[in-house]
This record gives sequence, structure tokens and C-alpha cells, in this order.
Amino acid sequence: MSLTEAATVHSTAPASHPVRIALIGAGRIGSNHAEIVARLVPGASLVAVSDPVGESAQRLATALGAPLATTTVDDVLTSDEVDAVLITAPARSHTDLVVAAAAAGKHVFVEKPMAVTLADADRAIAAAADAGIVLQVGFNRRFAPGFAAARAAIDAQKVGTPQLLRSLTRDPGPYTADPARVPQWTIFLETLIHDFDTLCFLNPGARPVRVHAVADALVRPDAKGAGHLDTAVVTVQFDNGAIATAEASFSALYGYDVRGEVFGSGGMVTAGSGLSTDMTYYGPDGLHADTARRDTDLLHSAYVGELTAFVDAIRTHTPAVVTGQDARTALSIALAAIRSVETGSAVDLDG
Ligand SMILES: NC(=O)c1ccc[n+]([C@@H]2O[C@H](COP(=O)([O-])OP(=O)(O)OC[C@H]3O[C@@H](n4cnc5c(N)ncnc54)[C@H](O)[C@@H]3O)[C@@H](O)[C@H]2O)c1
Repeated sequence: MSLTEAATVHSTAPASHPVRIALIGAGRIGSNHAEIVARLVPGASLVAVSDPVGESAQRLATALGAPLATTTVDDVLTSDEVDAVLITAPARSHTDLVVAAAAAGKHVFVEKPMAVTLADADRAIAAAADAGIVLQVGFNRRFAPGFAAARAAIDAQKVGTPQLLRSLTRDPGPYTADPARVPQWTIFLETLIHDFDTLCFLNPGARPVRVHAVADALVRPDAKGAGHLDTAVVTVQFDNGAIATAEASFSALYGYDVRGEVFGSGGMVTAGSGLSTDMTYYGPDGLHADTARRDTDLLHSAYVGELTAFVDAIRTHTPAVVTGQDARTALSIALAAIRSVETGSAVDLDG
């Protein structure tokens, strides 16, 4: 976290009432987050749902007992009944919504990516600092128990100096989206951005300095000509010497798969598993294990953890544990990876 972000957090939520939260964007992940806030986060209540599609806002608000459903973001930003917002609208709307919410004095949880340009990342960070609000970014993997335990082991010096790291995301297949409706560079800006943050999280204190990326359309080769990319490998070198790889695919037929690994001078930690339970069936044809088909199932506890941490930060007047600066660092790697694909060369990151 930056010092400016840490210095001036205040709270609009007195301890006497729950933190009153409005959702901005009632789509797939917004519905997940709204339900968690309404049902599972202590000290929080869902008071409003905003979505330009009125039916989406109304349906979710009704299902979760939120008193306000609106198609107008301003309705929640001007309301005295709202302390904080969850921004789960499409990626390219995030920065303007962060800036508007901060200007209105609302604490902000924003899904990744917080911004798709570094200038916008700086704009969001500055707006939050100026307003003294909590700004948390949705890098949920940090809250997954295995990844959190891996970081604790690294902090306890059990791994020694990190030398090789890896992080991967494979979305569940078969891939059914229309590639023409997926914004260009999504694999870096919205998928691998999780892995870039994970690599930084698992290599604490180190700065990414050099990025090289290779990407292709192996899932939908027919869409490659239109710029579609669904498979990528990125190497990231850090200033402590560690060499990392991040990889992603949009279509793993066996389910949603998220894993990480840190190999160091003193040992190794691994985290993540695609298994939906720890049950293994042993039968005449061998072993069978069930895999998760959705991120919201595989990482449910991580989503609960990040939203609980957000509410705790507001209630205790402390900075968010995943900051705008963290979002900026992950974005800087994503943008370098895009440039590397464009040029075919490694890209150095500015100090
Ligand atoms: N952290 C994670 O694990 C995770 C998982 C999925 C998605 N995401 C991120 O969450 C964001 C949303 O993804 P999604 O899959 O839920 O998308 P989605 O398309 O299902 O939902 C987006 C919703 O936002 C609404 N919307 C559009 N413009 C809006 C605006 N200006 N204000 C308010 N609402 C608006 C849409 O009508 C829609 O209901 C993306 O940035 C995505 O990368 C994060």
C-alpha cells in the first residue's frame, strides 16, 4: 500500500449500524458479491443495487431484500443511506466509477482491473487518497486459504529466497463465449491480472522489472485473425532475481483451475487445486475426483474473505489489505505483456 493511501482513511459508518453497501453492476460476479454481503459478511448490509438494466437491479434487490433498486448510479452515490459501494460493472467503466464514488465519500471495493491504463490507475489512487476512503481491489486469490498459507510460509522464511514462481488460471471449458464480444487483450487485463498480482503477493517486497509474453488463439483459432487470444504464457523477472511464469487458458475441459507455486533457496510451497471437495472415489475403474466448474464455487471462501476484509477496514478505519497500488503494479505487468506480444520482445518496466 502507498503511504498516501494508508494515511487518511476515515469511516462514514458509525459502529452503531452496519456498513451499508450498494452494488454497482448486477451481473455474474456482482450477484455473487451481493449475496455474500447480504448473507455472510458480519457488520454489513446490502441497501441498494444499481444496474443500467433495471430488471437485473430489481431482481437482485428483491431476492436479497435490498430496499433500493435503480438504473442510475447517482442514486446510490448521492444517498446518505450508503456508506460503501461494490463496483462490479464491466472493466472499462471501473476507473470513472471509483473516482465518482470517492468524490461522493463512499468507500470502494472495485473488481479487477481497477483501470486499464496507468494514467487511470493513478487517477483512481489519487481520488481515493484525496477522499480518505478505503479503496480495495478484488484480487480474491490472496484470500484463498492455500494462497494465504503459502504467503505465511514465505513470510516465516520457510521458502528462503524465492527463485522460481508460477501462477496459472484456466477457465472452465468448453469455451462458449462469442470471441467478437470479448474485448481485446482480456486474457491479460482480466484473467492473467490475477496471476500477476499473485506473483507479486508471493514474492513480497520484490519489484517486477522485465516481462516477456507469448499468446495465441489455441481454443478458437478461427477468431485469431480478429485479434482473439485465449492462451498465454508470460515470464516476469523480479528485482530480487526471481523468475516467474504466469499462464492462462480460456478452456480447461476438466473445470476451473487456479494454482500457484514458489520454489526458493529453502524449500517450496504450492497452493490451489481444481478439486471441488477432498473426496476421492476409488472404484473398479480407478480413482475419481470432482472438479469445480465455477470460480464462485472454487474460490467461495476467498470471496467471503475479501468482502469481510473490506468491511473490517471500514469499521476499523484501517487501509485496505489489497490496495490501488497493488492494482497498478499488476496492471503494469499486464500492459507490458501486451506490448511484448505486439513487439515480440521482452519489455522492461519503469522503476
Ligand atoms: N475477481 C474475480 O474472480 C472476478 C470474476 C468474474 C468477473 N470479475 C470482474 O468483474 C467485472 C464484471 O464481470 P461480470 O462477469 O460480472 O460481468 P457481467 O457482464 O456479468 O456483469 C456486468 C454488469 O454490469 C452492468 N453494467 C454495465 N455498465 C454499467 C455501469 N456503468 N454501471 C453499473 N452497472 C453497469 C451490466 O448491465 C451487467 O449487469 C469485470 O471487471 C470482471 O473482470 C472478477
